[in-house]
Amino acid sequence: MRQSSLVVVANRLPIDDSVAPDGACEWRRSPGGLVSALHPLLRHTPATWVGWAGGTGPAPSLPDIGSVRMRTVPLSSEDFRDHYEGFANSTLWPLYHDAVEQPEYHRRWWEAYQRVNQRFAEATAEAAEQGAVVWIQDYHLQLVPGLLRELRPDLRIGFFLHVPFPPPELFMQLPRRAELLRGMLGADLIGFQRAQAAHNFAQLVAKVLELPATDRRVGVDDRVVRIGAFPVSIDTAEMAALAGRPDVAARAQRLRHDLGDPGHVILSVDRMDYTKGIEQRLKAYSELLASGHVKVRDTVLVQVAVPSRERVTQYQILRDRVEREVGRINGEFGRVGEPAIHYLTQPFDRAELAALYRVADVMAVTPLRDGMNLVAKEYVAARVDDTGALLLSEFAGAAAELPQAYLVNPHDLEGLKQGLLSALEADPADVTPRMRAMREHLHRNDIRAWARSYLSALDDGGSLLTHLAPT
Ligand code: ADP
Ligand code: G6P
Repeated sequence: MRQSSLVVVANRLPIDDSVAPDGACEWRRSPGGLVSALHPLLRHTPATWVGWAGGTGPAPSLPDIGSVRMRTVPLSSEDFRDHYEGFANSTLWPLYHDAVEQPEYHRRWWEAYQRVNQRFAEATAEAAEQGAVVWIQDYHLQLVPGLLRELRPDLRIGFFLHVPFPPPELFMQLPRRAELLRGMLGADLIGFQRAQAAHNFAQLVAKVLELPATDRRVGVDDRVVRIGAFPVSIDTAEMAALAGRPDVAARAQRLRHDLGDPGHVILSVDRMDYTKGIEQRLKAYSELLASGHVKVRDTVLVQVAVPSRERVTQYQILRDRVEREVGRINGEFGRVGEPAIHYLTQPFDRAELAALYRVADVMAVTPLRDGMNLVAKEYVAARVDDTGALLLSEFAGAAAELPQAYLVNPHDLEGLKQGLLSALEADPADVTPRMRAMREHLHRNDIRAWARSYLSALDDGGSLLTHLAPT
């Protein structure tokens, strides 16, 4: 078995199998923030990515992508149900997102979580060469740092959480809270999206495990585990280059024409997830249509909502409700050939997404809670002419970095409506400097800057950076 000096471990591999129109099986990039962040970063770096390929049954063997080896970890249908859909996405996901849906606790799910984390730790131990750097990602794998340290104490282990880390009042609900915290503490460095999350974590380890902890470090046995905020980002230059391509500009023009050449295009791009605030946004839009503040011929809303975690009941309920509401709004306010909302559930390739971003005068990103939200950053990167208004929820991690956005509280319906109107009516003299400032921020703080700051902290400023291929 070939081993690597850099191993990334994530529940998802960067590709998913899908069925092509001719029935053949093909691989495509999986939607979601984690893959969007890591895929461009690793493409040219010699590394191994340990992860799950999306199906159940034996692990398929996948070709390398660029210089990255794919090491697949299989999930049985029980693992899929109890680890992925269960503990990861029906316990931790809602709990970590302010419990906007009720988290569920089942002992069988916890057993599956332990079993699958053990499998990931073993696969990683096999893939890592002596002294390698291992970078474990996200809430599906919080026990892996501890399990891996037992198997391979020679490794340098990093853990990064892409989602929010909740305040103690919420986390304390978890029946197996001590084990989960201890699992994370197997890492040498634990990264969060925001400083508040590191603070929550420090408070919890002090309270639950009675360990000495500050917002920067925790003492465990004879080790010091460092913790901190490392806000994740995107490949800004790649998105800007894509959006600037003549064929993408032409595609954006064509899209605008197909939308009826309206005065204003509003765009939202989300995974179909109850954290994204899709229902609240539709309600705000519908009320603006009803009050006549927004008129269908002048303004269109394009809502892209790619289905996600489709067998989980809360996701099924959400999809039904969103689709019923879109139907109602179109029935009530649309005209023949002029729907109020253009609703799309398909996955798009990067060029089509870039064209959509280019066509959007207003981008509405209004999650109820989000670790970061890369869609907001992609939109900014794609606005190569410094136009466009970003309407952004205060509860997205991105809001801390993009204060020039039109910030809203998505729980406040009147505030949301007002924010949408302000963004729609904003003067170019207001919009352009805001967009320029956000673009400059993202230019400096792109995905490579994120990886550099994380890896140099993991190595205390040492030589780990050599693991990353030059741009
Ligand atoms: P999350 O990680 O919760 O899904 P993010 O906004 O951080 O939210 O990341 C979503 C990622 O998925 C973005 O990179 C976005 O471009 C991508 N994405 C979202 N919808 C689609 C779609 N319909 N087709 C292709 N990619 C999508
Ligand atoms: C979020 C999570 C990722 C996850 C992605 C897509 O970004 O932080 O870990 O991969 O959503 O969700 P999925 O369940 O399809 O992997």
